[in-house]
Amino acid sequence: MIGISGTTVITGIFGHPVSHTLSPAMHNAAFDALGLNWRYLPFHVTPERLGEAVAGIRALGLRGVNVTVPHKEAVMPFLDRIDDEAGRIGAVNTIVNDDGVLTGYNTDGLGFVQSLKELGVTVGGRRIIMLGAGGAARSVAFALLASGAASIHIINRTVSRASSLADELNRTKQAVTAAGEAGSLSGFDIMVNTTSLGLHAEDALPVDPAHIHNKLVVCDLIYNPAETPLLAAARKHGAKTVNGLGMLLWQGAVAFRLWTGAEPPVDAMRRALEAGLAARR
Ligand code: ATR
Repeated sequence: MIGISGTTVITGIFGHPVSHTLSPAMHNAAFDALGLNWRYLPFHVTPERLGEAVAGIRALGLRGVNVTVPHKEAVMPFLDRIDDEAGRIGAVNTIVNDDGVLTGYNTDGLGFVQSLKELGVTVGGRRIIMLGAGGAARSVAFALLASGAASIHIINRTVSRASSLADELNRTKQAVTAAGEAGSLSGFDIMVNTTSLGLHAEDALPVDPAHIHNKLVVCDLIYNPAETPLLAAARKHGAKTVNGLGMLLWQGAVAFRLWTGAEPPVDAMRRALEAGLAARR
């Protein structure tokens, strides 16, 4: 690690809470791998101080920050520009500071698509079934459509939320339907769990696993545990499985590129994430 000096460039993450984040380990490993005199710090920002914190990016000359729960939507009015994709999604997870001009981006959805791509799973022309209709679902669904998905069927406990997300997505491409429960999975190529079901051992499965078939790619945005009960069931049915670690990695890689302009050292970043997770177990 290069020692902090008068020319160290500072980046970081705003969250509430922020103590659980693996992003500092991932980004600092990336700076070290490229020999950059940059650091990434956690900033615990409470909702009522978010505006002041954003003003602090300009005042202190931070190069940029990631933004996590619960600030991804609330931060938008404090920024100077919003990238088109972040505007469509209605949430920002990355801010870039160009000489005091702050631009908001959303790299979450692209991160998810990149995590599939690196495993050889293409999205173009694929029929998607998505479980959940919250914030994570929004960013993933917009990115899937932008990457040429043929259709998306959204399943959510609160059907009205699934329907309103489908209505919004249909303005981009008329290919999205919504329902309260999943029926047969035979007409789908990729299933994505964006709900929080699977985070805790006592959680119910987000879908009946009996319908999982071996041509389905089953993705879970959860990365801890590394294999949720849904992914375990999918593996037993012979389906290809993808957990959320790749999305965490690639949303960070895209943010890294936005800040530094350099190609992200993804192997070093992945190793840092894996080490951070192993230390928690
Ligand atoms: P995130 O930003 O992580 O997507 P969110 O916006 O709170 O978080 O969305 C959580 C998603 O998980 C929603 O789709 C939610 O369903 P509802 O819209 O019906 O609330 C889903 N979810 C959370 N807990 C659930 C549970 N116990 N059963 C089914 N779905 C659940």
